[in-house]
Amino acid sequence: MNVMTAPPSSKKEIVDVGFAHRELVARLSPGGRYIDAQTDVDSPWVPFGENAAIKHLAFDVRQGIFSNILWVKGPGVVGTHLHRGTIVMVCLEGSVRYLEYDWVASPGGLILEVPGESHTLVTEHPEGVKLFGWMQGPIEFYDENGNYADTSDVWWFINHYETYCRENDIPINPKLYL
Ligand SMILES: [Fe+2]
Repeated sequence: MNVMTAPPSSKKEIVDVGFAHRELVARLSPGGRYIDAQTDVDSPWVPFGENAAIKHLAFDVRQGIFSNILWVKGPGVVGTHLHRGTIVMVCLEGSVRYLEYDWVASPGGLILEVPGESHTLVTEHPEGVKLFGWMQGPIEFYDENGNYADTSDVWWFINHYETYCRENDIPINPKLYL
């Protein structure tokens, strides 16, 4: 039995792969895509409170998935919230930690959050933090007394993006909808 230790071809050439369901894929798949995040061409920075902004990158209403970059522009807090789904984040710039945990995320680091966790996000970096997120499921926000305030889910994120686009005459980008 052969065990692959590296990709079998390194030829810089497109190879036709005989996948049996090519036509189904063409008819039914939403398709892969590239979303630029370095500029505002694909998606603008949408204000999120006074000190933060969100660049929305993808929405999948079937699975309740939303992807974006959260930019906290200086030292600041994103108040206590409870996750009902699974969160994958990568720190892109600056640093961030949670009051509840003993680690500090730095650029390139992976953050995993699981359903049922509640925590309070803090950046003490002078330039704040940029966090890429691939997130699933509702996020419940609580006030400083632990009272439930509001829920952010895929519909909330879509509304956040589309409202800003409408108010600023920015066309809605269909590439963001999976
Ligand atoms: Fe979180």
